Amino acid sequence: MSKPTSRRVFLQTAGSTLPFVSLFLSLSGCDSYSSMEDDNDTPPPPGSGITIEGNTVFLDLTGSEARKVANPGGFLHIDAADMLVVNVEGTIRAFSSICTHQGCEISSFQNNRFVCFCHGSQFGTDGQVLQGPATRALTAYTVERDGNRVRITKS
Ligand code: FES
Repeated sequence: MSKPTSRRVFLQTAGSTLPFVSLFLSLSGCDSYSSMEDDNDTPPPPGSGITIEGNTVFLDLTGSEARKVANPGGFLHIDAADMLVVNVEGTIRAFSSICTHQGCEISSFQNNRFVCFCHGSQFGTDGQVLQGPATRALTAYTVERDGNRVRITKS
C-alpha cells in the first residue's frame, strides 16, 4: 500500500515539473491554440451563402455572409475554410488566412490590409507582404465569378 504524498514531497515534485510546463507554454506561445489553424471550425450556416466542398468554396453573393464581398471594399473571413476573401474594385480575390510567418489565423482587414495580430504582419489585397516579420505572400486561390455566383478553388 502506498503512503499518502506529504505536502513537502508534493511541492518538491510540483517544483521540478513547473519549469517544464512553463517552458512548454512559453515556447508554444500564440502558435498553439486559438490563433493556429483550427480543424474544428463550425461550417457556415444555411443562408450564409457560403458552401464548402473539399478544396472548393462556393459563394452566393445574396447570402447573409457572402454578401459582404458583393461590393468593392468588402471583406470576408471564412474560418471553416481558412480563407480570406476581398472585393477589390469589383474583382473578388481570395487567399489563405494562414499567416506565412508562423501560421496564425488572420481574420482582420484594416485600411485595405490583412492584419495578423500574432506579430503584426500586414498583407495587401494582392496578398503581398507590406509589413513583416512575414516575408512570404499569402497563398492566392483561383476565383471564378458569374454574377452572384463565385467559385474559389484552393490550389
Ligand atoms: S504568425 Fe507572426 S505575424 Fe503572423
